[in-house]
Amino acid sequence: MTASARRALHRDLRAAADLVGCVLDGESLGSALPRLSSGWDAAARGAAQALSFDALRGLGRARALRDALHPKRLKPAALDHLLLVAIALLSAPEAPYPAHTLVSEAVHACALHPGTRAARGLVNALLRRLLHERDALLQGVLDDDEARWNHPRWWVERLRAAYPRDWAAMLEQAQQRPPLALRVNARWGTRDAYLALLRAQALDAEAPPDPPQALLMQRAVPVHRLPGFGDGAVSVQDCAAQRSAALLDVRAGMRVLDACAAPGGKAAHILELADCALLALDHDAARAARIGDNLHRLRLPAAGGSAQVRVADSARPDTWWDGRAFDRILLDAPCSASGIVRRHPDIRWLRQPGDIDALAARQRTLLDALWPLLAPGGRLLYATCSVFPEEGAGQAADFARRRPDALALEAPGQILPGTPPAQDGFFYALFAKRADA
Ligand SMILES: C[S@@+](CC[C@H](N)C(=O)[O-])C[C@H]1O[C@@H](n2cnc3c(N)ncnc32)[C@H](O)[C@@H]1O
Repeated sequence: MTASARRALHRDLRAAADLVGCVLDGESLGSALPRLSSGWDAAARGAAQALSFDALRGLGRARALRDALHPKRLKPAALDHLLLVAIALLSAPEAPYPAHTLVSEAVHACALHPGTRAARGLVNALLRRLLHERDALLQGVLDDDEARWNHPRWWVERLRAAYPRDWAAMLEQAQQRPPLALRVNARWGTRDAYLALLRAQALDAEAPPDPPQALLMQRAVPVHRLPGFGDGAVSVQDCAAQRSAALLDVRAGMRVLDACAAPGGKAAHILELADCALLALDHDAARAARIGDNLHRLRLPAAGGSAQVRVADSARPDTWWDGRAFDRILLDAPCSASGIVRRHPDIRWLRQPGDIDALAARQRTLLDALWPLLAPGGRLLYATCSVFPEEGAGQAADFARRRPDALALEAPGQILPGTPPAQDGFFYALFAKRADA
């Protein structure tokens, strides 16, 4: 490691501690990172993000070790957060830096904050004790579910109940760093052509048998390093999310509704495959703006198709629907995002147990509001990036019971995180509206 990299680490630790503090206060990293990092350069931002991701993946263990090392909560909160980040990194199965570097840089980081400066000696003593007694301290805390699995206890209990066979593997999956998955724009060219372009730039990727436009990068690179990204050759999208367009089976000329469309990943995929008339809705104006940006980058819709983006509440068709039925409806519903925790390690700490039932109620309202808008013979695809059955199989079964005119078609159902090719956790149910209904 160079001297300048060493000099910067204490700042990155402080920044990561601030980010972890925001998450513990209930703010997502997606909101906290841009807010705190305005004015930082890309390297500082990337380093703080990477360290905060590692710390959040080890936060359950770190809290338990902190309590074992110092049962009384350290004040101010900025000191506690710094200690948690240092403990999470030092006790990680693969520590990102040598232990002695982490300890000295964490101590050095205390000087960056007026409220933590005086605690340098204490932080040094606690972290050195952790180094010397690491195994014994870990043995003492790992009986606890939160410390063992680095997820809230209620989350572990729910998974254990829903997946008696797979729950532990699912929690282990959540600790992995996900691969960078790409979707080649079928309007741009073939997957083989893009793979050749990547290789010409000394980048490499694997082409899984399915989904057909997917590539898994051998190593993650920033999108601006992906050839043709700015010109719409590819998008970043997990393989599980790439299944929706094929399931919907959109054909030229169809009227298609994407009811929860922002930032437009699945809407764009639909338009890459068919010259249809797409209406993309999202109730969040800032997020809806990103749909237009994405379609513009991907040069969509192509001649022959059309796309309209509207800020609207899908659950209130009376406020936006023109009365003409849709041939296809995609409901990629708001959900707990419990299937994508490896990409967003803050999610597990932000969710509360009551959120799952509240989200399931919103999903049910959306399903019931949108079904009457589907033409007889049409298809509705219900999707969530969740692993909780209330938002997946349970929700779909309830819907089928309420709607005798809904015929369940073949669909992946629950995709467990890590299912080849390295997929996120996802749920898909597909319904056709009986033409004789
Ligand atoms: C899972 S995300 C959609 C991701 C998107 N389909 C994609 O592939 O890029 C869910 C979206 O639903 C939106 N949403 C939630 N409730 C909504 C509602 N009642 N009406 C419209 N949009 C809603 C959220 O703002 C969020 O952008």
